[in-house]
Amino acid sequence: MSTPDRLRRDGFSVEALRRLARERLPKPIFDFIDGGAEGEDTLRENESSFQDWSILPRPLNGAAARDLSIDLFGQRLSSPILIGPTGLAGLFWPRGEIVSAQAAQQHGTVYCLSHGSVCTLESLAAEHGGQRWMQIFIYKDRGFTRELTARAQASGYQGLVLTLDNQLIGKRERDIVNRFTIPPRFGPSQMLAFARKTAWWWAMRQELASLTFGNYVRADTPESAAQLAGKMGSLLDPGMTWQDVDAVRSQWRGPLLLKGVLHPQDAIEAQRHGVDGIIVSNHGGRQLNGASASVRALPAVVQALGGQLPVLLDGGIRRGSDIFKALALGATAVMLGRPHLWGLSVAGEAGVAHVLSLLSAELDLVMGLSGVQDIAQIRAAGLLVRNEAAAN
Ligand SMILES: Cc1cc2nc3c(=O)[nH]c(=O)nc-3n(C[C@H](O)[C@H](O)[C@H](O)COP(=O)(O)O)c2cc1C
Repeated sequence: MSTPDRLRRDGFSVEALRRLARERLPKPIFDFIDGGAEGEDTLRENESSFQDWSILPRPLNGAAARDLSIDLFGQRLSSPILIGPTGLAGLFWPRGEIVSAQAAQQHGTVYCLSHGSVCTLESLAAEHGGQRWMQIFIYKDRGFTRELTARAQASGYQGLVLTLDNQLIGKRERDIVNRFTIPPRFGPSQMLAFARKTAWWWAMRQELASLTFGNYVRADTPESAAQLAGKMGSLLDPGMTWQDVDAVRSQWRGPLLLKGVLHPQDAIEAQRHGVDGIIVSNHGGRQLNGASASVRALPAVVQALGGQLPVLLDGGIRRGSDIFKALALGATAVMLGRPHLWGLSVAGEAGVAHVLSLLSAELDLVMGLSGVQDIAQIRAAGLLVRNEAAAN
C-alpha cells in the first residue's frame, strides 16, 4: 500500500496520527513533542476550550462550493492553516524542517522555521522556494538577535516572528522523568528506548551523530550540540522590554509578528510599536502552566485590535471545527505545532502534507455543513454560540 493510502486509512484524524507517532518514536522523544509544563493544565485546556463554543449551522445558505484561501500580508494562501515554529524537527525525521517546508509549499502555505532548527536558516532557504518566516528571540547578547534578523533578511525570509513566552524555559516534567536531553544522550535507558523503535533509529542513525542547533553553530567557535543545549536557557533575556521590539522593528523590513501574546493590552502596545501581526499563543502549554488557553484569550485580543492587525492563533488545533471556531472568533489564520510534528514523525514530507490536507478537508466539511462559502463568511455569519456552562 502506498504511503498516502496508508496515511488515509490509519491517519484518519490528528489524534490517530498522534497514536502512530507514539508507536514510531522512542518514548522520550514522543514525550518531548507531546508534553507540556508542570501538570499540563494549559496544554489540556488549549484542546478542550474549543468546546466552550458550538456552531449554529445555516445549511440553506447554499455552500456547494467552498473557497478556503486567504490573503495574508499581500500573499495568497490556499488555506488559513500555517505551520508554526518548532525546534528540533530534524530529530523526528531526517531533514525534518526542510521536508516540512516542502509540504507547506505544496499545500500553498507558510512554513515558519524555529530558531532551534537542526538545519541552518540558510540551508532551508537554499532548498525551499515557498513562503517562509523565521522565528527569533531576544538574546542577552542583542548582537545575536540582530545577527539572526540580518541573516533571515539576507536569506529572503518574508516574515519575522518574535517569540515572547520562552525567555525562561518551562518546567517540562515528562522530560525530567525521561532524562531527556538535547541531543539525546546514549545512556543505557536511552539506548533501550531507542532500540525498541528500530524504524526511527535506522532512519536517524546518521543524523543523530551530528545533531545540532544549526543557527547557533559558528565556524569560528564550533560548539557541540550538548554545549549549546546547556547554554540555551541562559542565552535568552527575561529582562526584555518594548524597546527590544522597537529595535527589531527598525531593523526588519517586512511583516513582523509577536508570538505568545495573550493579554489584550500587549496587543494594543504591539500595534503602537509598529508590529504587523499578533500570534495568540501560550507555546502549546509548554511554558507557563496556568496561562489562559489560547482560544479563550482570542476574543479580547481581537476586540482590542478592532480589525487593525491580523491575529493568528495556535494551541490545541486538532480538528477542522477548531479552526472554524478560531476564525469565527476573529482569527485570521491558525498555526500548527504538534499536529505537523506527528505527521512528520510518521511519514516525513508525506505525513506533513497529509496533516495539512486532512485539516483542510475537515474545515471544508464544517464550512459546507454550516452553509459557509468562504473564510470571510465564517466570521461574518455569526454562527458561533458560547455554551452556557463555559459562560458561567
Ligand atoms: C516540540 C516543540 C517545539 C517547539 N519549539 C518552538 C520554538 O522553537 N519556537 C517557538 O516560538 N515555539 C515553539 N513551539 C511552540 C509552537 O510554535 C506552538 O506555539 C505550539 O506547539 C502550538 O500548540 P499545538 O502544539 O497544540 O499546536 C514548539 C512546540 C513543540 C511541540
